[in-house]
Amino acid sequence: MPERTMAVVPAAGSGSRMGSGQAKQFMPLCGAPLLTRTLWALERAPVVEGVVVAAPPGGEAELRARCLEPYGLAKVADVVAGGAQRQDSVAAGVARAAELGAAWVLVHDAARPLVRPELFAQVLQAARRTGAAVAALPCQDTVKEAGEREMVRSTLDRGRLWLVQTPQGFRVDLLLAALAKAKEEGFYATDEAGLMERAGHGVKLVMGDKRNIKITTPEDLSLARAWLGGDGPDMRVGQGMDVHRFAPDRALILGGVRIDYEMGLLGHSDADVATHAVMDALLAAAGLGDIGGMFPDDDPAYAGADSLALLERVVERLAAQGWRPRQVSLTCVAQKPKLAPYRQAMRRNLAARLGLADGLVNVAATTSEGLGFTGRGEGIAALATAVIAPLAAESRF
Ligand code: CTP
Ligand code: MG
Repeated sequence: MPERTMAVVPAAGSGSRMGSGQAKQFMPLCGAPLLTRTLWALERAPVVEGVVVAAPPGGEAELRARCLEPYGLAKVADVVAGGAQRQDSVAAGVARAAELGAAWVLVHDAARPLVRPELFAQVLQAARRTGAAVAALPCQDTVKEAGEREMVRSTLDRGRLWLVQTPQGFRVDLLLAALAKAKEEGFYATDEAGLMERAGHGVKLVMGDKRNIKITTPEDLSLARAWLGGDGPDMRVGQGMDVHRFAPDRALILGGVRIDYEMGLLGHSDADVATHAVMDALLAAAGLGDIGGMFPDDDPAYAGADSLALLERVVERLAAQGWRPRQVSLTCVAQKPKLAPYRQAMRRNLAARLGLADGLVNVAATTSEGLGFTGRGEGIAALATAVIAPLAAESRF
């Protein structure tokens, strides 16, 4: 059986140097949490067969809900509780990877989301030859050692200095032994390779990548955002569609406007097909399903309901998730009656409920040239597109 390689991602830190009040691995970076981006890189590295993530102790469920579940990450095999120090988090993750049958582990910081997926294979290949390998960069700046009162004691030989990154790859039994020895001696290193060196093992340097920075301060986050091409406006689009059939002895209500016609639309609520399409478009944009899920049509509470009032509830539901409507475009497909005289009133009603200027809501009407159910005058169809945006700019970061 080929030897199994797993990645261990320590993601249990508090991000104190970021100073944002939330752990940095959960912070959004161009639309996805930092940790999610790191895990995407691992998804794209064929040598990695599974991933163990170390979460802040007690925060395992939150990590899963915020960074894993919405993004369909296939390789995450488990989330374990990390520890007080990075080394404790790595130890917990490596122990679990070993239980899951890993013969080789690649430790990679959650805080390095810009890693090139190929780097995992390069580090693993070197580690397979020597037992341990780390990604690192030759030092470009001159490095001085300080003595007392910020006085230079010496200038180090830059030609021999490397700045170490992750991934760091190890044969799992060697790393477990080095971690156990360090624990016994109460020794903490700033990286796992340091433990291996201490235990007398050789560690191979593999050329890392300048973009593989460890996101530590807000400046690092700005740099990463620029390299990823920026956030762009955080807007989302949804579409909605609804159909109701005509029936006698019913009022015809579209966009909350009562329309003069010999029939109305059949439905559990007021059957305002236009407003229903708008609600569905908004819910779709926010990824919140559809109106059938929010207002079940077998619930007596909604019998004869005023759809504009339901629209207000949808807008509140979006607000609770941090979203607001930005623009709505609605098209009603009806052979009869002629809707043009009512378009402005419909637009005003909808705009008022959406909290938008009238100019950001468009109501169009068309016939279907006598074709299909609308053409035969059996009912009305409505289609809507909605654009939504975050409620406040600060809710994004
Ligand atoms: N880490 C961890 N467990 C800890 C501390 C750190 O798993 N007890 C993880 C971090 O989540 C990060 C990586 O180790 O992915 C590198 O650590 P660092 O950049 O220092 O992150 P933080 O410790 O979160 O940040 P700070 O030191 O600024 O508080
Ligand atoms: Mg730290």
